[in-house]
Amino acid sequence: MAIRKVARMGHPVLRQKARPLTPEEIKSEPTRRLILDMVETMKEYGGIGIAAPQVHESIQLALIEISQAGDKYDDAEPQALTVLINPKITVLDKTPQGFWEGCLSVPELRGLVFRPRKVEVNYLDQNGKACKVVAEDFLATVFQHELDHLDGVLFVDKIEDRTQLAFLEEYQRHILPLQRDDIGNLDD
Ligand code: NI
Repeated sequence: MAIRKVARMGHPVLRQKARPLTPEEIKSEPTRRLILDMVETMKEYGGIGIAAPQVHESIQLALIEISQAGDKYDDAEPQALTVLINPKITVLDKTPQGFWEGCLSVPELRGLVFRPRKVEVNYLDQNGKACKVVAEDFLATVFQHELDHLDGVLFVDKIEDRTQLAFLEEYQRHILPLQRDDIGNLDD
């Protein structure tokens, strides 16, 4: 396994539409290795999700893992490692919910993004098996943030009120203490 270099905002790979993987590719050794490297890279940077374009691979592959309590996501339900290949997302409840989001590709910034509160994702797992997950609340935002990367979209594109974009340090100092109960924070 190896920690891969993370592409930062401005690198064209983050703005490309990622291509789907073929069944042969899903089971291939390079894909297996890429998934292991993405897990290691995500953990190294303290993220809870990572998409292949963030490690310079323009393919429809992303993963999410939210570990047990003790980390910075107090209000988040744990989510076992989920590998999403060729995902399709459907909104089940479009009621907007706001979270302060961060991204490994947009380091040191936080922005308030409103997204639908409940989604369904159909995808293939690392073995090529068809799977479905329904996510709501915080987890729904995590899935939408990661899958946006496969369309070349970053969270900063979705900030409606650009006064709600801040450096992490200032966010922690000035915004977090005043935060309303109905707005959370997501740092991946
Ligand atoms: Ni991200």
